[in-house]
Amino acid sequence: MGHVHHGKSSATFLDSDEILSGLNLKGNETFMDAGCGDGHIAIKAMEKYLPDGRVYAVDSYDKSIEELEIYKSENNLENLTNIEADITKSIPGVENDSIDVALMVNVFHGFTSENRDDVISEFGRILKTNGRFAIMDFKPIEMQRGPPVNIKYSPEELEEIFVNHNFKKIYLNEEMGEEIPEGRSHYLIIFEKR
Ligand SMILES: C[S@@+](CC[C@H](N)C(=O)[O-])C[C@H]1O[C@@H](n2cnc3c(N)ncnc32)[C@H](O)[C@@H]1O
Repeated sequence: MGHVHHGKSSATFLDSDEILSGLNLKGNETFMDAGCGDGHIAIKAMEKYLPDGRVYAVDSYDKSIEELEIYKSENNLENLTNIEADITKSIPGVENDSIDVALMVNVFHGFTSENRDDVISEFGRILKTNGRFAIMDFKPIEMQRGPPVNIKYSPEELEEIFVNHNFKKIYLNEEMGEEIPEGRSHYLIIFEKR
């Protein structure tokens, strides 16, 4: 499965509003936070951006999903579905062509040439035609936080990989995340399923 980082969260160093406002949600979408960790982005999405939507929070780490289940029942969140799944394999319980927007924050860098095609194929299955797959990740430069530079993807590398799966790049913002000496730490790239 590569580089996993169970239990890590970007809550202390990324602004979920910066990420979610970049997605221009209408409010009624079916949304997935894939590799959701503690779910801080999924919960913000549901509470602030998707009043009439549905949110799937997916992670392979059982403890994260157990905690999200507790949060869901304590807060009566009917529109939240938490799924424990390895997204390099399959996301059970999610129908074909059912997701409007999928988001991965600080997750995709963990996938290698061995398994990233399986991940993209699975999102090709669950996303609607014209559905969007948004990836926010660390820029491939040396910085204090985050994975080693050699495993990080540039937006151009992601685009090359995604076009082979019938996704089209529709958006790129390279001024996201934390302030670092070189500018900002992250990019947000969005692909549309054709
Ligand atoms: C660095 S954390 C980021 C968590 C969250 N997106 C955030 O920004 O706070 C990476 C997350 O991806 C999850 N993850 C890694 N590989 C996965 C896989 N194959 N399937 C599902 N989740 C995975 C990890 O368990 C972890 O929660």
